[in-house]
Amino acid sequence: MKKIIVISTSLRTGSNSDMLADQFIEGARAAGHEVEKISLAGKDIKFCKGCLACQKLGKCVIKDDVNDIMQKVLNADVVCWATPIYYYEMSGQMKTLIDR
Ligand SMILES: Cc1cc2nc3c(=O)[nH]c(=O)nc-3n(C[C@H](O)[C@H](O)[C@H](O)COP(=O)(O)O)c2cc1C
Repeated sequence: MKKIIVISTSLRTGSNSDMLADQFIEGARAAGHEVEKISLAGKDIKFCKGCLACQKLGKCVIKDDVNDIMQKVLNADVVCWATPIYYYEMSGQMKTLIDR
């Protein structure tokens, strides 16, 4: 049994990638895994400032929703991302979270 975090990054109601995330979750739970889903909709996620304080402290100094999300990521065995494709790439909100 693995602890899986699913991060769904689309902010769109009726999102296709969110629907795919839900299908993944259904399959993972049916296979006996523990799954928690986090949606970035409504989350406060500021841009990385590049201060590199995280390299000394092991966490980000910016106060928003990212440290709570990162705590869950650190406790997980598997992290699954669901993202819309925006201009041949991951969504900006996914990239902003990864930078943090
Ligand atoms: C700003 C923007 C850029 C997009 N760029 C691409 C793209 O490069 N390639 C593509 O196949 N679809 C692109 N799309 C379409 C989305 O990937 C598609 O609508 C997807 O279903 C959105 O994901 P969601 O339903 O989970 O929100 C773009 C949509 C938007 C709004």
